[in-house]
Amino acid sequence: MISFLKNPDLKHDAVVFLVNEEQLKGKNKISPVLSSLEEKKLFTGENGQIFPYLEGKRILLFVGLGKGKDSGLTSLRINLRQALLSSYLKNCGTIDIFCPSQEENEVKAIIEGIIIGTYQWDKYLTKKKPDISKKYFIVSPEKKAYGDTITICDNTNLARDLINDNADCIHSVMLEKKIREIVKNNKNVSLEILGEKELKAKGLNLLLGVNHGSAKEPKLIIAKYNASKDKAAEIAIIGKGITFDTGGLNLKPTGHIETMRQDMGGAAVVISLLKNAIDLGIKKNIVFACAIAENAIGPKAYKPGDVIRSYCGKTVEIANTDAEGRLVLADAISYVVKNYKPKRIIDIATLTGACAIALGPDYTGLVTTSDELAKNLINASKETDDRAWRLPSYPELKDSVKSKIADIKNVSNFKGAGGTITGAEFLRQFTEDTEWAHFDIANTAWVDNQSRMYFGYGATGSGIRLLTYYLMNN
Ligand code: BES
Ligand code: MN
Ligand code: ZN
Repeated sequence: MISFLKNPDLKHDAVVFLVNEEQLKGKNKISPVLSSLEEKKLFTGENGQIFPYLEGKRILLFVGLGKGKDSGLTSLRINLRQALLSSYLKNCGTIDIFCPSQEENEVKAIIEGIIIGTYQWDKYLTKKKPDISKKYFIVSPEKKAYGDTITICDNTNLARDLINDNADCIHSVMLEKKIREIVKNNKNVSLEILGEKELKAKGLNLLLGVNHGSAKEPKLIIAKYNASKDKAAEIAIIGKGITFDTGGLNLKPTGHIETMRQDMGGAAVVISLLKNAIDLGIKKNIVFACAIAENAIGPKAYKPGDVIRSYCGKTVEIANTDAEGRLVLADAISYVVKNYKPKRIIDIATLTGACAIALGPDYTGLVTTSDELAKNLINASKETDDRAWRLPSYPELKDSVKSKIADIKNVSNFKGAGGTITGAEFLRQFTEDTEWAHFDIANTAWVDNQSRMYFGYGATGSGIRLLTYYLMNN
C-alpha cells in the first residue's frame, strides 16, 4: 500500500533515502546523518550501496544511486527494490521513502520500484513473504495525482499472478471467469466468447487443432471496449493464451518445458490492458482478444505433417506442433480482422525462443510493417522503461514459410535462423494488410534466475506498461 507524506513521520519504522553521488556532493544535505557518513566515507552514494543506520528506534537506510547515466530511473527502480527487500527492513511495517529530486517521473519510478519491484509470488509458500503487506509512504511535498501509475502497476501484478499460477488452475474457463469479473456491470464493454462449439461452427480449425490433445476447452474471448463516440474499432490487441505448452507431439525436452505456464503471457497482458482501459477510463474503442488453448499430448493431439484449413481459408502445414502460438493467433487475427475491422492490430505473444537469441533477456522483440506504429510503440517503450527493440519485416520473407503441400507452413525454411522474424511473417500473412505490429515476449515475460532488473523470479508483466502508455497517448 502506498500513500504520500509531506515530511518523514518520526513514528514510522524506517526511512529510505535514495541518494545519487551528485546530491551527496551538493549543498542540500538531506539528513545530518548523511553528512557525517559522507565525511567518514562510509556512504559514498555509489550505485548499489545500501547503508543502514539506527537512529533511536528508526532505521535510516541510505541507498546509493551512482552518478551520471548510472543514476537513471532504471537504476532507481533496481536499487529501491534491493533496499526494500533487504534484511534491514525485515521487521519494518511502515517505511518512508525519500526521493532525490521529487520530479514526476522519479516519483512514478519509485511507485514502480515498490509495486513491481517488491512483487513476489508466494501463493504456495506456507510461510508468506512479509514484504507484501508493508505500508510505504512516499515523501513528496507536492501533491500530484499518481493514481494512474499505481493502477497500472497493480494491474501488471494481476497479470503476473495469472502467469505464475499452475497451468491446471489458469485454464480457459478460469480466464473467461476472470474477464467476466473485470468487465462486470461495465456499459462500455461487450463480450463475444467462442467456445468449442462456436469455434467448430465458424471454422477456427487452427485454434481447435492446437487444443485437440487437451482435456480443456479452447476459447476465443473478445471484449469490445467502446469509450469513444466514434463507432469504429481503432485498434485490436490480441494475445497468445497457451495455458501450457508441452510442445505437443514434438514434445519439449527437459530444460525447456518447466516454465511453459508462461505461454499464456500474451493473453495475460491483454487482460491486464482491458482492466487498465476500464480503470483509467481510456477514451478509445479497443478490441481485446485472447486466443486460449492448451498444447497437450495424447491420442487426440494434432500431428506433425497434418494440413489444416484455417478460418480465413488458407491451408496450413503443421511442420512442428511446437510452433502452436502462431496457429492460434492466425485464426484469432483473421477472425478479428473479418468481424471487427480494426484500423490497426497489435498482437502479443511468447512466440519464439529465438527472440532470446536475437535480443537477450531485456528487450521484447517488435516486428511491424508500419514505421508510424514502430515510432509510437518504441517511444512508449522508452517512456515506460518497458523495453522493446524493432526487428525487420520485409517482402522477401514470405518465401520463408512456403509449403510444398499447403498454402503456408508453421515453421520456416531458414533452418531456425531468424526464428522471430519468420514467426512474425507467418502472422503477417493473416492480417489482410491491416496495419499491424507484433510483440514477441518469449524472452522477457519470465525470469528464470533470482531476479533481472527490478523483476524477481517468474512473470514480469512485460508489455503492459508499454501498451498502456501507447493506448493512453496515441
Ligand atoms: N512457447 C514457445 C516459445 C517460448 C520459448 C516461450 C521459450 C517462452 C520461452 C513456442 O510455442 C515455441 O515452442 N516456439 C518454437 C518454434 C519452433 C518450433 C519453430 C521455438 O521457439 O522453439
Ligand atoms: Mn510451442
Ligand atoms: Zn508456445
